[in-house]
Amino acid sequence: MEKLEKLRQEFDRRLNEIRDAKSLQEARNVFLGRNSRIMEIMATLKDLPEDKRKEFGAKINELRADFTAYLAKKQAAITATDMRDRLQAETLDCTMPGFNYQPGCQNPYWLIRDEMIEILVQMGYEVYEGSEVETDYYNFTALNTPNDHPARDMQDSFYLDNETLLRSHTSAAQAHKLQDNPNKLIKIITPGKTYRRDSDDATHSHQFAQIECLVIGKDVHMGHLKSTLRTFLNRLFHQDGEIRMRSSYFPFTEPSVEVDMTCVKCGGAGCSMCKGTGFIEILGAGMVHPNVLSIAGFDAEEYQGFAFGIGIERVALLKYGIDDIRRIYQNDRRFIHQFTAKTGE
Ligand code: DAH
Repeated sequence: MEKLEKLRQEFDRRLNEIRDAKSLQEARNVFLGRNSRIMEIMATLKDLPEDKRKEFGAKINELRADFTAYLAKKQAAITATDMRDRLQAETLDCTMPGFNYQPGCQNPYWLIRDEMIEILVQMGYEVYEGSEVETDYYNFTALNTPNDHPARDMQDSFYLDNETLLRSHTSAAQAHKLQDNPNKLIKIITPGKTYRRDSDDATHSHQFAQIECLVIGKDVHMGHLKSTLRTFLNRLFHQDGEIRMRSSYFPFTEPSVEVDMTCVKCGGAGCSMCKGTGFIEILGAGMVHPNVLSIAGFDAEEYQGFAFGIGIERVALLKYGIDDIRRIYQNDRRFIHQFTAKTGE
């Protein structure tokens, strides 16, 4: 009994000295842990005569319960003090200047691409997604450009193996659409990236993007092509200009044309950009070659159509007066942010 009384006094003294979580834990080890003083006394229980054992045991348990309760109280007090100290130390000064997060914005490439697609969809075209990785067959052969055709040299390409390449033009998508829908009416556009082994400079990039357009029907003629292009280009460039067709050559169209439109800078009066002609070159087009239709399984006597392919970056350069195509890919925020304000023009 005496031993217990001494232990209680010792505990009381120690309790007063507890200031923080560390000293609390130490006290817990000393008084309640596995090798604690209570345990030591408990071990002596078996040496007592049987009639004393019960009473002594009860006293030990009482003491243990007291210690546990006092330490729990102390624990609660320490947690509260800790929290108060932390709250005081962490005061939030609402008058401090904040961080200035700049919102992101769309690259002019995406602005133009979306605008072009929107106009064409409003004109009734369906978007047909092609693939950037193509076979030689769809990129060339099915477009009337067989293996030994010199026109292949005009599009020096990135081959992945003997058969596969990164498409050199979105026209490859035409071949797929035609083959999948023989003798059907077609009216699609295919926007997307294209690749050619080119030396990059202000107007060339080894990766660029095009929008391909294909219309197939039973009474489609060049007049449709011309009015489609005039409507599309005038809406895209917000002008009421003319288009001009110059005879050209593409293996997949006959006749083939290079299309010019009224200069966006001078409105046709003649300036340095259009070299005084009042027109600037904008895209390639033509009437789909009967061979292309036949290869895809169409009856070329009955079906005909037109197609064109337009470079997306070229439109961005012209429309926004950008001097170098590489700026579109460099992602310099100072450059890109200038165009956000122009959305919804
Ligand atoms: N594929 C051609 C190019 O990349 C552009 C083109 C010309 C597409 C005439 C056409 C077309 O659909 O009919 O240079």
